Amino acid sequence: MCGIVGYIGPQDATPIILSGLKRLEYRGYDSAGLAVLQNNQIEVRRDAGKLARLAALVLEEPVHGNIGIGHTRWATHGEPNARNAHPHLGMIGDVVLVHNGIVENFLELRAELEAEGVEFKSDTDTEVIVHLVERYISLGIDLAEAVRKALNHLRGAHGVVVMSRLEPDKIVAARVGNAGGVVIGLGEDETYVASDLPAILEHTRRMVFLESHQMAVVTRQGAQLSTLEGVPLPLDVQNVPWDPVSAEKGEYRHFMHKEIHEQVRSLTDTIAGRVDFEAGQIRLPDLNLTSELARSINKIHITACGTAAYAGMVGKVLIERIARVPVEVEIGSEFRYSDPIISENDIVLSISQSGETADTLAAMDEGRKRGAKLWSIVNAIGSQAMRMADGFISMQTGPEIGVASTKAYTAPLVDLYMLAILLADLRGVIDIARRKQLVADLRLIPDLAGKCLDREEQVVALAHALVDVKGALYLGRGINMPTAYEGALKLKEISYIHAEGYPAGEMKHGPIALIDSEMPVVVIAPRDPWYEKMFSQIEQAKARGGRVIAVATDGDALIPPVADHVLWVPETPWMLSPVTTVIPLQMLAYHIAALRGLDVDQPRNLAKSVTVE
Ligand code: AGP
Repeated sequence: MCGIVGYIGPQDATPIILSGLKRLEYRGYDSAGLAVLQNNQIEVRRDAGKLARLAALVLEEPVHGNIGIGHTRWATHGEPNARNAHPHLGMIGDVVLVHNGIVENFLELRAELEAEGVEFKSDTDTEVIVHLVERYISLGIDLAEAVRKALNHLRGAHGVVVMSRLEPDKIVAARVGNAGGVVIGLGEDETYVASDLPAILEHTRRMVFLESHQMAVVTRQGAQLSTLEGVPLPLDVQNVPWDPVSAEKGEYRHFMHKEIHEQVRSLTDTIAGRVDFEAGQIRLPDLNLTSELARSINKIHITACGTAAYAGMVGKVLIERIARVPVEVEIGSEFRYSDPIISENDIVLSISQSGETADTLAAMDEGRKRGAKLWSIVNAIGSQAMRMADGFISMQTGPEIGVASTKAYTAPLVDLYMLAILLADLRGVIDIARRKQLVADLRLIPDLAGKCLDREEQVVALAHALVDVKGALYLGRGINMPTAYEGALKLKEISYIHAEGYPAGEMKHGPIALIDSEMPVVVIAPRDPWYEKMFSQIEQAKARGGRVIAVATDGDALIPPVADHVLWVPETPWMLSPVTTVIPLQMLAYHIAALRGLDVDQPRNLAKSVTVE
């Protein structure tokens, strides 16, 4: 999704902006541009396509200056071409702007501005904002006030970053709603602005996050924060711990491959500091969960999108089985408009890697409005979902760059498992022996994930066999039903092969018609409580001539005779089995996409954090 980087200071802004945008490439985009103040003129370079194209443009026509803004655009209004790429200049050329979000009332604003004589040069909704700012500047209003007034006209959620030739000592940044974040990085006599931390983390760790309806006037010396009504606010400077080195690809060809292999570490970090193996207890201090609160919970509504929602489905099984608390899982885009029945003793628990997914944030808003407590399980430190929540669990995975989520799927599975144990303990519904056993099982999980990763060769061989298939069916039941959904999602999003995840018991009610000798049927059949039921499903698929690929537990003697291929996983306590069963499916999707020569980390049409509705 769109990314923003800005710089003001003694250095040349152009390379800083380009490298910051590079670090946001993973978010997905289809055009890119930058604007730099050079000899008191705003110079814009922008084009469709990847950042390499923008870098080439800058080489052909260099631009240097000490203040600038840049943008990667993921098209919403208007084709991804040069004229629609950001930054957008006002008519006079004194003001330039980049924007994340959608101006919902842009058609009426455009008509209004055209009636005033403004000529539009793009098809974007964004362009109305720069003309509004310019309108107020031409009335003698300063940049910050002009931005404030312009934002008052807009409907929707926005992050905007603006600079003006007339006030060359500042950048103005503002945020309204949840169209991605706006973060300000404080350096020594230089200041950075970005939509996301990774863009500027190599320069500074001292960050100020803008909340909705806040704006900042950014200068070399720092930033002045205020509300959109102009009320000054104190700067809440946070020191962010992420290590930018961990966002490098290292020995791997693709981030996704690296991130799949990081799961031993991310799962170790997920458990670290939260588990007292001696006492058999879980500590999740950021959740602010007291036994009084735990006992008062009526229902938990898990809300999330995509992969995160599938993690939530596993969470439902875990929380209901271990803590006996009713759980509903609803995807964010539906929950927000579902007029949900929520009582004040309910919890709305969001799961999000980016913490900036618009639908998930809107679902949290909905929960808040209806009086629920908000929890989040979130990876991006300082993100909106983390800050909005009354309590959170931070995924300890480090930045996830590949658009296809992998380590940010397995970490929340373990977070939810720990949450279920903690809830059960605080509600007094678990005996000590069982609690200790469940906690002890956690110790196994990094090693079991490592064993799955060690078997990559078996997956590579299968990927070669499946590289040209046209479609695939993924079947699972119970706690591993979401594994089927997630396996299918991984394959379709990066290899562009149609794949469908289905509850195995439902196969006979429709999808069975798809099965023939061409159709791979991936069955998730570890030794969990649904194993026998899965086994009969395998036989049904086989009887229709399906090409069965089974994910099965080491030593299973029944499955090899009925499966064409087996992806072996080590024996895993069943409540943690979704961690091990998904890993071969992540690797399978990765290798098929890599063999097809596709852009694994930035698949077409997809964005890493989906900050529009
Ligand atoms: C995962 O591979 C996807 N690309 C996507 O479904 C993702 O999980 C979803 O957009 C939610 O993102 P979030 O975790 O950042 O909220």
